[in-house]
Amino acid sequence: MKTKYGNWMPVEYGIGAAVLAGACLGADAVLRIQERGKEKTVLSHCAHGALLTGALVSTAAAAYCMTAHNRFSYNGERQLARQVTEGIAEYIDLPDGGLALDVGCGSGALAIACAKRFPHASVLGVDTWGPEYLAYSRKVCERNAKAEGVTNVRFEKGNANHLDYPDETFDAVMSNYVYHNIAGKNRQELIRETLRVLKKGGTFAIHDLMSEGRYGDMELFAQRLRDEGYERVELIDTTDGLFMNRREAGMLMLKNSILLTGRK
Ligand SMILES: C[S@@+](CC[C@H](N)C(=O)[O-])C[C@H]1O[C@@H](n2cnc3c(N)ncnc32)[C@H](O)[C@@H]1O
Repeated sequence: MKTKYGNWMPVEYGIGAAVLAGACLGADAVLRIQERGKEKTVLSHCAHGALLTGALVSTAAAAYCMTAHNRFSYNGERQLARQVTEGIAEYIDLPDGGLALDVGCGSGALAIACAKRFPHASVLGVDTWGPEYLAYSRKVCERNAKAEGVTNVRFEKGNANHLDYPDETFDAVMSNYVYHNIAGKNRQELIRETLRVLKKGGTFAIHDLMSEGRYGDMELFAQRLRDEGYERVELIDTTDGLFMNRREAGMLMLKNSILLTGRK
């Protein structure tokens, strides 16, 4: 059985843009046939201009989507998504018999990477699995765990806004590219909610698009954690060579990718 990790740039976006480009070219061709032998009006010049511009823009969008899809792909040449999730798991420390939580686990990639790294501990992945990411579901996560031969991971529905677990339930918590999706929420409070369920002494690794506009002042947030007794709190710019470089991050709309790590 093969794994089927979701792609942050679904292939359907590229296909949709390509179909749109084809439709614009087709409509332009039909218009030209209808106009054969007739004098062209200003309106028809405008229509051709609009259709050809539409075809050009859609072709560029299709090329962009397919390039991004291939770079993220778990099985492509670049395997960026794999590098990111396995890279985050490196920042987690989990004792034998311990339990870790992956918030917004998607298709299970990070939870499974962590479960592989700590075969004597276990990992729980939670997600809302809403309509925005159709390729992600609990079933897909369970299928991927099976395909990887990983048995120390399980998945259930859960919401980052309010995690349905008592304070200090988990030995480690992690998340990848999730909180920026949650509109209208204070992202620092979302991180606080994740840290609430982390045991004292447990490690955390939270990776997201932490621009100031989305998250506010994260340096101040990190300092507050240190002042509260959290240890080794670091904000790591992962576009500085750790997971990708600045140029690639810009191209893939992953600017401000930052990893917040430390120990409670
Ligand atoms: C870009 S995907 C990342 C998935 C996964 N973490 C990965 O690295 O592949 C964002 C995920 O966040 C999930 N998500 C969005 N809002 C959520 C919420 N309020 N609580 C939990 N998960 C959420 C989505 O369902 C989706 O699976």
